[in-house]
Amino acid sequence: MSMRLPKFVRMVEVGPRDGLQNEKQIVPTEVKIGLVDRLTDAGLTVVEAGSFVSPKWVPQMADTPDVFAGIRRGAGVRYAALTPNAKGLEGALAAKVDEVAVFGAASESFSQKNINCSIAESLERFAPVMEAAKAQGLPVRGYVSCVLGCPYEGEIAPAAVADVADKLLAMGCYEISLGDTIGTGTPAKAQAMIAAVAERVPMGKIAVHFHDTYGQALANILAALELGVAVVDSSVAGLGGCPYAKGASGNVASEDVLYMLNGLGIETGVDLDKLVAAGAYISEAIARPTASKVARARGCA
Ligand code: HMG
Ligand code: MG
Repeated sequence: MSMRLPKFVRMVEVGPRDGLQNEKQIVPTEVKIGLVDRLTDAGLTVVEAGSFVSPKWVPQMADTPDVFAGIRRGAGVRYAALTPNAKGLEGALAAKVDEVAVFGAASESFSQKNINCSIAESLERFAPVMEAAKAQGLPVRGYVSCVLGCPYEGEIAPAAVADVADKLLAMGCYEISLGDTIGTGTPAKAQAMIAAVAERVPMGKIAVHFHDTYGQALANILAALELGVAVVDSSVAGLGGCPYAKGASGNVASEDVLYMLNGLGIETGVDLDKLVAAGAYISEAIARPTASKVARARGCA
């Protein structure tokens, strides 16, 4: 292939957060810890292990402090959490997280539904988070949701995505993760959106975050890699969704992403057998068949 693909891709595992936040049942804390430990053993270097959000909004993440207290911390692994405001950051600091994330949106309606404020207000709320994190030397990731469509507004202009991404970068986020929250994107649209963002954010600071609702995630990831994106978010077993994006299914399965990257000769440092085992563990614990095709092909239920 003539594409200039990256030699190494950093896989950001979001299953314990993006996946389990959307489970109707509350997953026991020890199961979450068991999952994070298995992901550590699989060689992932960034694991999003929870969020410090309102427990009234997302009760599934209320035990995040206990998850952080219980996990075994692998050398060189960063355990991350979402922090939408100053209160969230306080919790994250107390739990000794290694990295936090603020999350905004390219759609006004989604911003209101997800974090109860406008895009501009959200950026104001992030400012004290950024300041306090900086004072503690804590890296902050910035998410932009609805980059390829919104459940309430439909099409989203690439310029709207670039604008929010640029603002998050200017505030001090070290990386911007572009979220196709509802998984409606297709490769050419994904490339056009990424190209628009890359005019404002260096390619090396862009990550992609695809939900697989329409089965387009792997194609979209390959399209992003072609442009030079080298950071990919995914969820083991394809867990996930967003409680404020109706119908949104899980993130692309980490096992499937890794299988594709292995096939392309791209290094990740992640072990497929161990990743599949981590997926089997959580699928069994929540009594849900895995959404990973690779895991199914290898005999997981
Ligand atoms: P609000 O009601 O506007 O906030 O919610 P508030 O400041 O008025 O506080 C209301 C209550 O929440 C108060 O408690 C606060 O103490 C409490 P009360 O006095 O009523 O008892 N509170 C908190 N408690 C714990 N931790 C906190 C916190 N902040 C306030 N940090 C807020 C605003 C942002 C808090 C709320 O809307 C919220 O928690 N939203 C979270 C939504 C969420 O987690 N969504 C899923 C993650 S985003 C996602 O999945 C997308 C992503 O994957 C990318 C993609 O796919 O696109 C990242
Ligand atoms: Mg997501």
